[in-house]
Amino acid sequence: MTAKIISGAEIAREIREELKREVAILGEKHGVVPGLVTILVGENPASVSYVTAKQQAAKALGFYSLQVNEPETISEENLEELVNTYNRNSLIHGILVQLPLPSHINESAVLHAVDPRKDVDGFHPVNVGKLMIGEADFIPCTPAGIQQLLLRTGIETDGAEVVVVGRSNIVGKPIANILLQKGKGANATVTVCHTRTRNLAEHTKRADILIVAAGKPKAITADMVREGAVVIDVGVNRIGVSESGKAKLCGDVDFERVKEKAGAITPVPGGVGPMTITMLMMNTVKAAKIAAGIKP
Ligand code: GUN
Repeated sequence: MTAKIISGAEIAREIREELKREVAILGEKHGVVPGLVTILVGENPASVSYVTAKQQAAKALGFYSLQVNEPETISEENLEELVNTYNRNSLIHGILVQLPLPSHINESAVLHAVDPRKDVDGFHPVNVGKLMIGEADFIPCTPAGIQQLLLRTGIETDGAEVVVVGRSNIVGKPIANILLQKGKGANATVTVCHTRTRNLAEHTKRADILIVAAGKPKAITADMVREGAVVIDVGVNRIGVSESGKAKLCGDVDFERVKEKAGAITPVPGGVGPMTITMLMMNTVKAAKIAAGIKP
């Protein structure tokens, strides 16, 4: 079997077109322009490229968008004060502090400083808790993007055996939580594997849907995948630089071999990546609507 390639790039484009129309209507009917600030500390090349892509997407949709660059040496106190400035700014509906932060800054403290109503990353404990009890306002962007990929590709999650590899707060834990909720695009039986899991392959081979966010290039090989399974590869590993100077990427799945066995698979790049940014845009539109008292 050769797998169907799930194009996140295509699905992201489709959702961005929908959002563009929604933003235009919001402006015309309600005078509301979604506002997003992205805060970048330091010059980590991956973070610079993510934040640039987020800003480009926001501008293309007609948002009010601000990019704030702070030096690597900024204190935690000053960064929190900066976040507070935007908590008070009524033109801004979404605040994103790009991670990782330098090691002298307590990442949790900064994330907790974001007003939960502007937490378009879905990382504030209030939003994490709301997701857990099925009352989410803002779902973290990467897992929200994965759910959209499954929904829009017509992949059935109801009753499916889902195996997640990775237990991060950004991907592993929230995607497990999303897929075990009651409702459309969920209702799955979820297993979460991690670095201490005994016999990883025993679990991954059971999966109808295998979601890999291990942070390790080619951690999942063909022998670990069930024939016909759906494989979602969240990995973004920089494995060198191409002749044109662009970073060469590979996922956490051995794509070339696994695609011969899986039923469907996401590529890297062009799979989950474009969905993450799109979900940030969706969350920002939602935040703007909630702030304006419009039903999201
Ligand atoms: N760094 C890697 N992924 C993310 C994300 O989803 N949000 C933020 N703020 N930083 C990240």
